[in-house]
Amino acid sequence: MVDNSEIQRRRTFAIIAHPDAGKTSLTEKLLLFGGQIQVAGAVKSNKIKKTATSDWMEIEKQRGISVTTSVMEFDYRDYKINILDTPGHQDFAEDTYRTLTAVDSVIIVVDGAKGVETQTRKLMEVCRMRNTPVIIFVNKMDREGKDPFDLLDELEEELMIQVRPLSWPIEQGPRFKGVYNIYEQKLDLYQPSKQIVTEKVEIDINTEELDGQIGKPLADKLRSDLELIEGVYPEFDVETYLEGHCAPVFFGSALNNFGVQELLNCFVEIAPSPRPVQAEEREVKPEEHKFTGFIFKITANIDPNHRSCVAFCKVCSGKFVRNAPYLHVRHGKSMRFSSPTQFMAQRKTTIDEAYAGDIIGLPDNGTFKIGDTLTEGELLHFRGLPSFSPEMFKYIENADPMKQKQLAKGIDQLMDEGVAQLFVNQFNGRKIIGTVGQLQFEVIQYRLLNEYNASCRWEPVSLYKACWVESDDIEELEAFKKRKYQYMAKDREGRDVFLADSSYVLQMAQIDFKHIKFHFTSEF
Ligand code: G4P
Repeated sequence: MVDNSEIQRRRTFAIIAHPDAGKTSLTEKLLLFGGQIQVAGAVKSNKIKKTATSDWMEIEKQRGISVTTSVMEFDYRDYKINILDTPGHQDFAEDTYRTLTAVDSVIIVVDGAKGVETQTRKLMEVCRMRNTPVIIFVNKMDREGKDPFDLLDELEEELMIQVRPLSWPIEQGPRFKGVYNIYEQKLDLYQPSKQIVTEKVEIDINTEELDGQIGKPLADKLRSDLELIEGVYPEFDVETYLEGHCAPVFFGSALNNFGVQELLNCFVEIAPSPRPVQAEEREVKPEEHKFTGFIFKITANIDPNHRSCVAFCKVCSGKFVRNAPYLHVRHGKSMRFSSPTQFMAQRKTTIDEAYAGDIIGLPDNGTFKIGDTLTEGELLHFRGLPSFSPEMFKYIENADPMKQKQLAKGIDQLMDEGVAQLFVNQFNGRKIIGTVGQLQFEVIQYRLLNEYNASCRWEPVSLYKACWVESDDIEELEAFKKRKYQYMAKDREGRDVFLADSSYVLQMAQIDFKHIKFHFTSEF
């Protein structure tokens, strides 16, 4: 039987945020508590920046944005923490969506002055779809920001989730005094010069001791704020949080490492251990004896000196063992992995075993595709990795006639990695790449050249949306395909895709062909 305590102590989660809200700062502070990095203090000191695990791709360094998804793991108290990093840049949103299928919970970082921003809103939608439990960290309290009560209203309204403060700020900006930790019932006093240790005072807020600590006017205000919170917000209930219906809120400053440990302490206690995962055939429970897992991410060039791909596999059940034979369900092939890796903050090491909740890196030379399932023999297919309709489209053309083969191989492998989506127009046979942002086109061009020695050229194509079409009425579907023959394409699975060139055309098609379903994600 699988060691249940190993599963119970695992916490696999992602930190999501709009760019600049403080995700990197928070991640680095968490690594500090996990003993994974020793450098306290200024977040982006060059030392940390240089060794930051997410700087895997050259392009990422050039642009200073986090392109790839990395995994960081460490022990904290009795818990094993797996953090899945997500690219902040919106052009890589699809990457983040996929990462969210591999986590059991999420921490959302919100800038206290800016409140809820676009990217946060979108990512929260994905969490809501999957009922992922969410904790919110309101960052940058050392700066002047919004009134905390207004912010809570905004969080509820914009993220469409009930919130419950578990800490409460005392002033903000230059007057920021600290937070009252409602969860631990302690007062944490803020000292900007001290970067690691915050002074914690166990205090009965109804005594004069509080007045002594922060002065009577602020003490009175804190008491009345807390009274209001107790009156307005329902008592914190772990079950409601675990169901994804209520998000506890913490306040702090990631840069100053203030409020981070409190967040971490509460997180490990309330966040879920690995949850059951739905496969097409059945629900797979983490404590099941046999190993199952799925690939949610493939990254090339982690080490620029070797042309190596790594497929990231989330262990869903059982125990993964090095060198044991596992079934690659799509290929119907047995495989052994002699050098599976796990990722510490700044290095990767070979592992002998891994449990449900863990993420393992499997060396890959083109055998894996996003969504592939590994098992001990059962024919299982994990769900929940849909492709979303891209927002930008371009024809991809070969710019070097001598390198046709390399280009085809490169495109194929990059699509397997899920970098973008490929549609082949059935009318003219041209390949169309669909992305969610301009930057992805640049990444593809760069990688084709650097990794496959192939050069490509982009040509404009004016499209509004790609929708997957299906119908029970075969005749109508055929009539539709005939009428729209110039706009019909196949995706990589050979499914029919309608390339609508405007929202008007799409609307008209929906009116004219009543029995056809137009889907905006590939999973329907
Ligand atoms: P991101 O990963 O979500 O994009 O955010 P990141 O942590 O990189 O933080 C974005 C900026 O916000 C950084 O400033 C960072 O120093 C700052 N920041 C993060 N947390 C806090 C906080 O608690 N208080 C304050 N005042 N600032 C915070 P930058 O100017 O872009 O970079 P740098 O010059 O500091 O390196």
